Amino acid sequence: METQQQFQVIVANESHLSFAQIICDEMASSAKARGTGIAKRSPEYIQQKMREGKAVIAFNQDGIWAGFCYIETWSHGEYVANSGLIVSPNFRKGGLAKAIKKKIFELSRQTYPEAKIFGLTTGLAVMKINSDLGYEPVTYSELTQDEAFWAGCKSCVNYDILMSKERKNCLCTAMLYDPKDHYEPEETKEFFEEKKSVFERMLRIKQWKLLKPFFKEDKDTNSGSGGGGAAKLKSFFHFFNF
Ligand SMILES: CC(C)(COP(=O)(O)OP(=O)(O)OC[C@H]1O[C@@H](n2cnc3c(N)ncnc32)[C@H](O)[C@@H]1OP(=O)(O)O)[C@@H](O)C(=O)NCCC(=O)NCCS
Repeated sequence: METQQQFQVIVANESHLSFAQIICDEMASSAKARGTGIAKRSPEYIQQKMREGKAVIAFNQDGIWAGFCYIETWSHGEYVANSGLIVSPNFRKGGLAKAIKKKIFELSRQTYPEAKIFGLTTGLAVMKINSDLGYEPVTYSELTQDEAFWAGCKSCVNYDILMSKERKNCLCTAMLYDPKDHYEPEETKEFFEEKKSVFERMLRIKQWKLLKPFFKEDKDTNSGSGGGGAAKLKSFFHFFNF
């Protein structure tokens, strides 16, 4: 019988620099497997986050790397993003992503108590985890408008879609926790549970609606494969506007 895995989820430091490459590789191969885009990060960037104490790393009981996430700050610290969440495929579906996100959320709140914390995701699992922490879905206009943040999307395969929507929408759903104006985690959690199946459908519809013009364009121009073609709670649907 399989035993429950025990994980160590800690703030990363200099002693973890050698794990940067495996983390980057897993981020890239997971995105490829899912067929989704990501803002690509180099091992050097991941190492910088470790040195600055702005990352969380997880290991299993045998010391094998299991997961990672890091903090980025934007608009002079007004916003914090918890980005690059990755759990090694061997350790998925055991609550590890939830534990990592909780730890990085606590670290963000301690280090930047005034900052709005946000994340972008294409996945229902992360929407669920964020909802448990008190995040709510928002429009892109409620995120940082810092050019450097949006420049990070350039390495994502869906960047053309983001730009065609004038940076107002893309395949990712935006979620935010505002320390000065937020619902209680119990409320956002309950809201997610109530609307889960609607969220799931909306993610699919969004993907279909946003990708369709690009597939059509490819077909019309016979341009071949590859390329970049690839509320608040009160008003539920406004962040899905196309
Ligand atoms: C997404 C990812 C981080 C989830 O990691 P994980 O450790 O398996 O997640 P957890 O076990 O903590 O699951 C958290 C919750 O999401 C649910 N969940 C997990 N995977 C899911 C999926 N594919 N679809 C829907 N729900 C899912 C779990 O049931 C759990 O809900 P519960 O609290 O009701 O039990 C992991 O699959 C991964 O690294 N994927 C590739 C990278 C990625 O997508 N990163 C996110 C970028 S925003």
